[in-house]
Amino acid sequence: MKLILLGAPGAGKGTQAKYVCEKFAIPQISTGDMLRAAVKAGTPLGLEAKAIMDAGGLVRDDIIIGLVKERIAEADCANGFLFDGFPRTIPQAEAMQAAGVTIDYVVEIDVPDEAIIDRMSGRRVHVASGRTYHVKYNPPKAEGVDDETGEALIQREDDKAETVKKRLDVYHEQTEVLVGFYSKMAAGGDASAPKYVRIDGTQTVDAVRDTL
Ligand code: AP5
Ligand code: ZN
Repeated sequence: MKLILLGAPGAGKGTQAKYVCEKFAIPQISTGDMLRAAVKAGTPLGLEAKAIMDAGGLVRDDIIIGLVKERIAEADCANGFLFDGFPRTIPQAEAMQAAGVTIDYVVEIDVPDEAIIDRMSGRRVHVASGRTYHVKYNPPKAEGVDDETGEALIQREDDKAETVKKRLDVYHEQTEVLVGFYSKMAAGGDASAPKYVRIDGTQTVDAVRDTL
């Protein structure tokens, strides 16, 4: 099973990815998590990516495509994977087609911009696992700590209201076009084309999960 979770920043991709990956026993490939790990480790990629991410921009296509190609060649991806936050531009999507990667489902989690700022300001993250909480909508069992490890939760650098606005602009300018790209492909009737599913992401976390 190969899936793409498509949606604006804060739509709930990371939250739902955890459930879908468990259900299908496939790895979650979050380019955002991979970049944050590189930033934390202080690698050359991390040093280059940090300023771009903090400003809400997109890291260069060639870098991201290289990262993802390396990742999907690993043994645990043999039975499929879930892309979270990738592809994010037409060149990224085309690079996957050119590499012969056939996707089974593209799932769009649809949330209007008005709901996003609220979600981002209350988001708390366990960096090591990528597990995501919300102080109101999806709180951890004990305040400020991860359910499974008991380690501290943090707020992401790019969750400041100004940066979130920029990320939403970038989403509308460069990523939203993928909605048309994949839904047209799905409607084209080609047997190898992905199926396209749109979900109302304004429902509760559990309601969205139940539709997946
Ligand atoms: P990335 O980490 O991918 O960020 P993003 O796409 O902007 O998405 P988020 O992680 O912010 O949101 P999400 O949809 O996962 O929502 P979540 O489940 O956490 O990318 C970060 C940066 O890295 C980019 O800006 C870019 O610079 C770079 N980058 C990454 N990939 C790249 C690529 N392919 N190309 C170029 N650059 C790239 O939920 C959000 C909050 O809402 C949480 O608090 C959660 O608990 C809560 N919540 C979730 N669902 C619900 C619900 N149904 N109701 C109420 N609250 C909910
Ligand atoms: Zn995420």
